[in-house]
Amino acid sequence: MKSTTTLLASILAFAVGAAVGDNCNVPLIYCGHSLIAKGKYQPQIDQCLFDNNHPTLDNGQSVLFGCIGGTNGVIQFLQDCGTGRCMDNGNGKNDTCF
Ligand SMILES: *[C@@H]1O[C@H](CO)[C@@H](O)[C@H](O)[C@H]1NC(C)=O
Repeated sequence: MKSTTTLLASILAFAVGAAVGDNCNVPLIYCGHSLIAKGKYQPQIDQCLFDNNHPTLDNGQSVLFGCIGGTNGVIQFLQDCGTGRCMDNGNGKNDTCF
Protein backbone atom coordinates (compact mmCIF):
# COMPACT_ATOMS: atom_id res chain seq x y z
CA MET A 1 0.00 0.00 0.00
CA LYS A 2 2.81 2.33 0.87
CA SER A 3 4.36 2.00 -2.58
CA THR A 4 1.03 2.81 -4.26
CA THR A 5 0.76 5.96 -2.19
CA THR A 6 4.33 6.91 -3.05
CA LEU A 7 3.67 6.30 -6.73
CA LEU A 8 0.52 8.43 -6.70
CA ALA A 9 2.35 11.19 -4.86
CA SER A 10 5.12 11.28 -7.44
CA ILE A 11 2.66 11.28 -10.34
CA LEU A 12 0.83 14.18 -8.73
CA ALA A 13 4.07 16.03 -8.08
CA PHE A 14 5.04 15.55 -11.72
CA ALA A 15 1.68 16.80 -13.00
CA VAL A 16 1.77 19.88 -10.77
CA GLY A 17 5.51 20.27 -11.34
CA ALA A 18 5.09 22.13 -14.60
CA ALA A 19 4.01 25.25 -12.74
CA VAL A 20 6.18 24.92 -9.62
CA GLY A 21 9.12 27.25 -9.16
CA ASP A 22 9.76 30.86 -8.25
CA ASN A 23 9.05 33.75 -10.57
CA CYS A 24 11.71 36.28 -11.47
CA ASN A 25 11.62 39.66 -9.73
CA VAL A 26 10.97 42.87 -11.69
CA PRO A 27 13.03 44.77 -12.82
CA LEU A 28 16.01 42.48 -12.34
CA ILE A 29 18.16 40.97 -15.09
CA TYR A 30 19.02 37.28 -14.92
CA CYS A 31 21.40 34.81 -16.52
CA GLY A 32 19.60 31.79 -17.96
CA HIS A 33 21.25 29.58 -15.34
CA SER A 34 19.92 31.79 -12.51
CA LEU A 35 16.40 31.44 -13.91
CA ILE A 36 16.77 27.67 -14.37
CA ALA A 37 17.80 27.44 -10.70
CA LYS A 38 14.37 28.84 -9.77
CA GLY A 39 12.96 25.56 -10.98
CA LYS A 40 10.53 26.14 -13.84
CA TYR A 41 12.19 28.40 -16.36
CA GLN A 42 13.71 26.02 -18.92
CA PRO A 43 10.56 25.88 -21.12
CA GLN A 44 10.13 29.67 -20.94
CA ILE A 45 13.79 30.17 -21.83
CA ASP A 46 13.51 27.80 -24.81
CA GLN A 47 10.38 29.59 -26.02
CA CYS A 48 11.93 33.01 -25.56
CA LEU A 49 15.07 32.06 -27.52
CA PHE A 50 12.93 30.53 -30.26
CA ASP A 51 10.77 33.67 -30.47
CA ASN A 52 13.93 35.76 -30.85
CA ASN A 53 15.43 33.49 -33.50
CA HIS A 54 18.30 32.78 -31.16
CA PRO A 55 20.07 29.39 -31.16
CA THR A 56 19.35 27.37 -27.99
CA LEU A 57 23.06 26.78 -27.51
CA ASP A 58 23.88 25.95 -23.89
CA ASN A 59 20.11 25.76 -23.16
CA GLY A 60 20.16 29.53 -22.80
CA GLN A 61 22.23 29.36 -19.60
CA SER A 62 24.59 32.14 -20.69
CA VAL A 63 21.92 34.48 -22.02
CA LEU A 64 20.76 37.56 -20.10
CA PHE A 65 17.00 37.91 -19.68
CA GLY A 66 14.98 40.79 -18.33
CA CYS A 67 12.08 40.06 -15.96
CA ILE A 68 8.80 41.43 -17.31
CA GLY A 69 6.69 39.97 -14.50
CA GLY A 70 3.04 38.88 -14.41
CA THR A 71 1.62 35.69 -12.91
CA ASN A 72 4.03 33.49 -14.83
CA GLY A 73 7.10 35.68 -14.49
CA VAL A 74 7.44 36.46 -18.18
CA ILE A 75 10.99 37.01 -19.42
CA GLN A 76 12.51 38.98 -22.28
CA PHE A 77 15.63 38.20 -24.33
CA LEU A 78 18.36 40.78 -23.76
CA GLN A 79 21.81 39.52 -24.70
CA ASP A 80 23.88 36.39 -25.20
CA CYS A 81 27.05 36.54 -23.09
CA GLY A 82 28.66 33.53 -24.75
CA THR A 83 28.96 30.11 -23.17
CA GLY A 84 30.06 30.24 -19.54
CA ARG A 85 30.29 34.02 -19.50
CA CYS A 86 27.18 35.00 -17.55
CA MET A 87 27.60 35.78 -13.85
CA ASP A 88 25.05 35.44 -11.08
CA ASN A 89 25.65 38.49 -8.88
CA GLY A 90 23.41 37.30 -6.06
CA ASN A 91 19.92 37.99 -4.71
CA GLY A 92 18.49 41.41 -5.50
CA LYS A 93 21.28 42.22 -7.96
CA ASN A 94 21.32 42.25 -11.74
CA ASP A 95 23.28 39.43 -13.35
CA THR A 96 25.90 40.49 -15.89
CA CYS A 97 28.13 39.17 -18.65
CA PHE A 98 31.81 38.94 -17.83
C1 LIG B 1 18.78 46.26 -12.78
O1 LIG B 1 18.59 46.65 -14.11
C2 LIG B 1 17.34 47.33 -14.30
C3 LIG B 1 17.16 47.55 -15.80
O2 LIG B 1 18.29 48.13 -16.36
C4 LIG B 1 17.35 48.63 -13.51
O3 LIG B 1 16.11 49.30 -13.68
C5 LIG B 1 17.54 48.28 -12.04
O4 LIG B 1 17.63 49.47 -11.28
C6 LIG B 1 18.78 47.44 -11.83
N1 LIG B 1 18.78 46.97 -10.46
C7 LIG B 1 19.89 46.87 -9.74
C8 LIG B 1 19.72 46.34 -8.35
O5 LIG B 1 21.00 47.18 -10.17
